[in-house]
Amino acid sequence: MQSENTMWQQKWVIGNWKMNGRLQNNNALMHRFRVMPTVDSVLIGLAAPTVYLLQLHNAMQIVLNNRILTCAQDVSKFPDNGAYTGEVSAEMLADIGTDIVLIGHSERSLYFGEKNEIQRLKMENVLNVGLIPLLCVGESLEEREAGREQEVIADQLSILKGLNTKNIAVAYEPVWAIGTGKVATTDQIAAMHGFIHKEILSLCGNDVNIRILYGGSVNANNAAAIFAVPYVDGALVGGASLSYESFAAIINAAQEA
Ligand code: PGA
Repeated sequence: MQSENTMWQQKWVIGNWKMNGRLQNNNALMHRFRVMPTVDSVLIGLAAPTVYLLQLHNAMQIVLNNRILTCAQDVSKFPDNGAYTGEVSAEMLADIGTDIVLIGHSERSLYFGEKNEIQRLKMENVLNVGLIPLLCVGESLEEREAGREQEVIADQLSILKGLNTKNIAVAYEPVWAIGTGKVATTDQIAAMHGFIHKEILSLCGNDVNIRILYGGSVNANNAAAIFAVPYVDGALVGGASLSYESFAAIINAAQEA
């Protein structure tokens, strides 16, 4: 992984494949990334399904000279080995060379009922093995229409308090913008990212390193405008990370930001 200091200055572009990918397609995609120039100002990561993480990590080492970080989409809330059928621990993710772990993606809370308490356990597990958690937060359309977005986000961020780290990475993903083609306006993004920044400082202290990514229908056409918004330190990209062309265009926009 790149040096700690550098990565907290870079724009992060993380692809979230969700439940997509096949061995052969993944390989083909990795090979296409070979032609991508190295960009010092941008950190690139890919979050693949757990079964493909080792494939990705190996490809990144061998083909890509570690220019792309290996990211996991989730981790177990249980810290240690044991009788937890189907679970994958933070230590296992570290063992295969994972760098960053998404925590609390809204699809985890929507389909698996994950709330703050579980997310906090996962954050601790990830930090305890030296990996970087990327906490996802976001309000529903209903909550935004009721004018409750800041209250909701503040509650989700509250799990950051008292964590044993000086590095905080958060992805703001309004639930109504995920996979819908509906992007938040730059004003909405600016207001929320400024708010999140302030909240993190008050929860974690003024001396923390902070990255706040925007996520929700980011694509090749809107990325540049989003990266230009204050306190937008990158993007978490779902659908558009599945094709080389659109993901590379977003990385390019981050580089030019
Ligand atoms: P999307 O997904 O870019 O397809 O909207 C983003 C995410 O859920 O991380």
